[in-house]
Amino acid sequence: MVVHPITVFPQTSNYFPPMSSAKNASAIATSLLAWYNKNARTLPWRIGPRERRAGQQPDPYRVWMSEIMLQQTTVATVKTRFAEFTNRWPTVHALAQAPVQDVLGAWAGLGYYARARNLHKCAVTIVEDHGGEFPSDEEKLRTLPGIGDYTAAAIAAIAFDQHAVVMDGNIERIVARLFEVKTPLPKAKAALKSHTGAIWPTKRHGDFAQGLMDVGATICRPKKPLCLLCPLNSHCAAHGAGTAEGYPVKAPKKKKPERTGAVWYIQHKDGRVALEVRPDKGLLGGMLGLPGSEWKEGKSAPLTPPIGTLNDWQAMGNIRHTFTHFHLSLEVYKHTAKRLPDHSRPLSWHDATTDDVPTVMKKAMQLVLNKPAS
Ligand code: ADE
Repeated sequence: MVVHPITVFPQTSNYFPPMSSAKNASAIATSLLAWYNKNARTLPWRIGPRERRAGQQPDPYRVWMSEIMLQQTTVATVKTRFAEFTNRWPTVHALAQAPVQDVLGAWAGLGYYARARNLHKCAVTIVEDHGGEFPSDEEKLRTLPGIGDYTAAAIAAIAFDQHAVVMDGNIERIVARLFEVKTPLPKAKAALKSHTGAIWPTKRHGDFAQGLMDVGATICRPKKPLCLLCPLNSHCAAHGAGTAEGYPVKAPKKKKPERTGAVWYIQHKDGRVALEVRPDKGLLGGMLGLPGSEWKEGKSAPLTPPIGTLNDWQAMGNIRHTFTHFHLSLEVYKHTAKRLPDHSRPLSWHDATTDDVPTVMKKAMQLVLNKPAS
């Protein structure tokens, strides 16, 4: 069978290895689409290949909703949450008319609240500026709130069967293996997109995108890929070399900087604690948190507690948490107050364990609860 020639090439971002031959490229698309015809996952937002062939069209609203939810949440969770959302708001008009607070409330457990705000904003924009219809064009989709490169391409391909090259982590992995792309990520992104463009078929764009997603999720897995079951194994250079698990190559992790800060645990006598809604923009945007200082690298500024002076607070110790770009060490201080600040959202511990409270804040609260006042 045809194995793509293995090409070693310099690791620079603008050097592209020779593309697969047109014949090989169309064989890849044919194999993938034939596999998808038989093995497509049944998903609530999906129009499967048979229905598609019979002329059924996906509902762009449902495709959009599923793609936004899938950005941060697993397919298994999204299946249930998608049903809740679309039963409650079956159309983009219904969602646009809903109070934003209802949408935010329903979003618990689906990740950053900024996404839910953008979901609502996008629905309003579609209704007010686009006559209630999603644009079918990738460029126009990209101008909408909360829709970036990936989502625009996914909606264009899946909902409208437009030729849009969809790139997500699963597809990057498949293509890195097919062509043994040795440049590490993220530098390899442009080359991976170029390879993906070269194997993209001239029709069945939505099926091809979803077929790649399904192969990526079920067969071409990051660890222990099931190459013997893969419809693309005869085309796959990494499989031919027995090195599939080594792709995509990732750049060595940089040492993360250390930031420090403080949080204020203001407890009411009845046990409730004062939490604030974090600003929409920025890290943990729209989620709940203990009030606190800025998180900074280097020497920390003198602490200014929201009530009294530092002498009125009990130092509880510190917690560590690692974000994608930095490590954080937070000093936790506790104060018992007769009244909680007016703007705060008082929560009992039971409520605070909901998904509205990010892990770093749960760690800080846990520290206080495990260490009763001395
Ligand atoms: N992951 C992200 N989008 C998806 C989709 N449309 N189908 C399956 N898995 C996905």
